[in-house]
Amino acid sequence: MKKLLFLSPLLCIFLSCAREPRLTSPDGHLSVLFRLADDGAPSYAVLRDADTLINWSPMGFLTDSLDLSRGFCLLGTSASSVSEEWETVWGEERIIRDNHNQLQVRLCHESGLHMDILFRAFDDGVAFCYDFPEQEPSKITITDECTAYRFMADHAAWSIPWRTEYYEGIWTRFPLSQKADTMCSPITLEMTDGSYAFVHEAALTDYPAQNFYMSDGMLCTYLTPWMDTAVHILPDKAYLPLPFRSPWRFVILTRDLPSLTASRIMLNLNEPCRLEDTSWIRPMKFIGIWWGMHMKSMTWEQGPIHGATTANMSRYLQFAHDHNIQAVLAEGWNLGWEDWKHFSFTEPYPDWDMDRLAHLADSLGVQIVGHNETGGNAADYEDQLTDAYAYHQAHGIHAIKTGYVSPIIRTRDGLQLNKSQSGVRHYRHVIETAAHYQIMIDNHEPVMPTGLQRTFPNLMTQEGVRGQEWNAWSQDGGNPASHVTVLPFTRIMAGPVDFTPGVFSFENPAMPGTRVHSTLMNQLGLMVCLYSPLQMACDLPENYMKHPDAFRFIEQVPCDWEQSRLVDGRIGEFCIFARQERGADDWFVGAVNADEPREAVVPLGMLPVDCTYTATIYRDGPEADWQTAPYDYLIETRTLRSSDTLRIPMASGGGFAIRLTPDK
Ligand code: NOJ
Ligand code: CA
Repeated sequence: MKKLLFLSPLLCIFLSCAREPRLTSPDGHLSVLFRLADDGAPSYAVLRDADTLINWSPMGFLTDSLDLSRGFCLLGTSASSVSEEWETVWGEERIIRDNHNQLQVRLCHESGLHMDILFRAFDDGVAFCYDFPEQEPSKITITDECTAYRFMADHAAWSIPWRTEYYEGIWTRFPLSQKADTMCSPITLEMTDGSYAFVHEAALTDYPAQNFYMSDGMLCTYLTPWMDTAVHILPDKAYLPLPFRSPWRFVILTRDLPSLTASRIMLNLNEPCRLEDTSWIRPMKFIGIWWGMHMKSMTWEQGPIHGATTANMSRYLQFAHDHNIQAVLAEGWNLGWEDWKHFSFTEPYPDWDMDRLAHLADSLGVQIVGHNETGGNAADYEDQLTDAYAYHQAHGIHAIKTGYVSPIIRTRDGLQLNKSQSGVRHYRHVIETAAHYQIMIDNHEPVMPTGLQRTFPNLMTQEGVRGQEWNAWSQDGGNPASHVTVLPFTRIMAGPVDFTPGVFSFENPAMPGTRVHSTLMNQLGLMVCLYSPLQMACDLPENYMKHPDAFRFIEQVPCDWEQSRLVDGRIGEFCIFARQERGADDWFVGAVNADEPREAVVPLGMLPVDCTYTATIYRDGPEADWQTAPYDYLIETRTLRSSDTLRIPMASGGGFAIRLTPDK
């Protein structure tokens, strides 16, 4: 039933005199304060104990006809609390605790429009969203969101510029005041007092992705705009049918990096799983007919070195079966690669026998990961979607890697930015349709993740990162060694990443000067440090067979976890993660290092006290160095217990990996 919400100006004035509502975290340390200024402008502030972390900062919107950044009166507030645990279908943790206090602030604008703000305070951060109840008008057009964050000092911020194509950029660290460009969300802050903040959004479903720019000493929101038919940016940002709830804006605030990476605020802000049957959703490691194309030893399109042939795929499927790899991706199996004008997702090339390969995969117990490159033509993909997914499902395919190579995608709304409201709607439509056909999604060239995998756990992983492929062909020589030590604290805080670790060959004959800035052990460390429930080991089988002893770690490492923790790390310098295999007692430790060699200290306090463990340690050799000796490594076996502390040297661009198995 539609409610016509209307409030008399007199009542409005009376209620706006109410006290400043305050919300405190369950442990009592973080507080969010809300107030309306004399002109009815909403704002909020955040405190840790008595220290202000975010000073009074604006909230609200501009629409095409209303100024919703002022002119409000307070109708009332209501408080509630949640303290519960929920089980993930897959993830870095099996059990996640959601413990927060909530304050609903009910506002009425002078135009008669009603808008609530929901605040949540967790022990490790705060969040809020805007909630428009059902009312007249039944839709509004947002031209600007006024949400800002007035941090109290000039903190160092890690970010990438907002127009970075597909988010495939190198994260840079500058004081907030020196961030001249508009930045993508998320942003990670190293605060001047040694603590940390992570600013992002959760549950982005029918709204443009947020970006940030600095103005008046504040981090301000810039919503990704719509474009007109001439591909010019429009003032319009979001067309909202009411009722509407905005994505959550959240800030994780922790004193150290282990607590920052352990925060599950983003997942807690997303809705619970909507899929009744999730038994078909399985985290998997996969290899693929893929790296060869990036190294130019194979092609996507047909020809003498076509990669995705029945013979090649049969060989890859057999290799996966023999080496405990659950799936194989094949790119270039379908019509369309010659000119990228129109891809078919149901018609294979003549040298790809889908029936035969589906049968072979099934008999080997290995899955095929399908590949749907759209070239950015999302509308064409939507036209084919149900046929494509029915075709894949009929061939026993339960995972598809999607791709949108084009800085501007063609949606049903014309050419639009991929992280615009139109793009966000498309990606969401793909995920929901895929769920219907029991298909897991690995989304390349995506919109930045915001935790939607809680609601649709078939959204497994996404790119949105300058991944391994750049080490094959980038004009600037490849990713710096520090890159992978930044990602766990920035991009991966937003969700799983399809970086494609596990390269065992570091130079590309087709691209002299470009190489992988890593030792072999660093590549093993990545399998643990860069979280993804669909984790690709990206190199060619023949390269893995040059180092079968090191490849053993990739064979054994899982990609679904009971619990995870950052052992130690510094953004841009190194990181060490320890993770317990889901439903098992084995622990896996992975570490990656930037250019400066160092000794890693790994206390094993996470292990149970009453047990000894056999540890297989894969570490850099004495000469190891990403530039001069990337293949120098040692493999050792030791008996260890929880009171032990390991000291492991890491080379320049190095790292290590450990498997710990309890002794019977
Ligand atoms: C870009 C993707 O990120 C990459 O993995 C893929 O191989 C190419 N597009 C071709 O689809
Ligand atoms: Ca890409």
